[in-house]
Amino acid sequence: MSALETNTTVAVIGAGTMGAGIAQLAAAAGHPVVLFDAFDGAAEKGKAGIDKGLEKLVARGKMTADTKAALLARIRLATDIHDVAEATLVVEAIVENLDIKRELFANLESMVASDAILATNTSSISVTSIARDLKHPERFVGMHFFNPAPVMKLVEVISGVATDKDVAECVFATAENWGKIAVHAKSTPGFIVNRVARPYYAEALRLCEEQVADPATLDALLTGAGGFRLGPFALMDLIGHDVNYAVSESVFKAYYQEPRFRPSIMQLELVNAGRLGRKSGQGFYSYTDGAEAAAP
Ligand code: NAI
Repeated sequence: MSALETNTTVAVIGAGTMGAGIAQLAAAAGHPVVLFDAFDGAAEKGKAGIDKGLEKLVARGKMTADTKAALLARIRLATDIHDVAEATLVVEAIVENLDIKRELFANLESMVASDAILATNTSSISVTSIARDLKHPERFVGMHFFNPAPVMKLVEVISGVATDKDVAECVFATAENWGKIAVHAKSTPGFIVNRVARPYYAEALRLCEEQVADPATLDALLTGAGGFRLGPFALMDLIGHDVNYAVSESVFKAYYQEPRFRPSIMQLELVNAGRLGRKSGQGFYSYTDGAEAAAP
């Protein structure tokens, strides 16, 4: 099945780290975009973040001011979730919680056209499970971007038990049209990348808990000697500890409490303290002078 036409509307639900990036991508590809967030001011904050990111591209001569203005003009902030009704594709990027996602999609299904595709950007929750109560689970699929969405090339297209093959193919082709490298994956815990990446975070956290070395030392080692682009602690700060912890917890539960996937109490304490990483200004590192400036 071919990609969505670029003149059709894409709705993005959740305007945080991922939702804002996905909205930017869809608008850059030419789609009219509707961006909705349930919390006051969040959609405005998301769009302001896009504006700031694009401004840097303009300053570096990588985008013209006209292109930037046109891209931003294609992103409409919705104050009412019913504004997603015209969308041919809805991408959800809200909190990593099964019940909240299920409730949202039950609501969305009653608003959109019968042939609209419903997609989740979940990092780890079973796509099959999110779709369980839908009247038409065959049009439900995972469209998993990586952080930051406008930069990272990979998109996992995740089929649940009921996902129609054509729906997965359409989302695959659409992601490639948006300049991404798409890969088909199945609805298994953590899918591909988050499954492979779990030990990177988990073992680094354990080393830290056992006081073998501190985050800055471990990050410096893994980037300097290991050749990783980001050390595990800087990466968790970028992802957000609430999101990263929720993913670990969900993979741990899904694999019947397999010990190697056990979440870290140290990370849970960061979540409890509201030290969520870059987005809150504090995680393993401090970002009070602006995330980029303080990044290790
Ligand atoms: P975030 O915390 O930055 O943003 C979530 C946004 O959703 C917030 O603006 C919040 O106000 C909004 N929201 C929460 N509940 C809502 C609801 N019921 N209806 C509408 N809006 C609602 O989270 P982030 O990092 O953007 O993650 C979103 C999703 O993307 C999660 O499922 C996460 O697992 C997944 N993801 C996250 C990645 C990351 O590196 N942060 C990478 C890939 C996927």
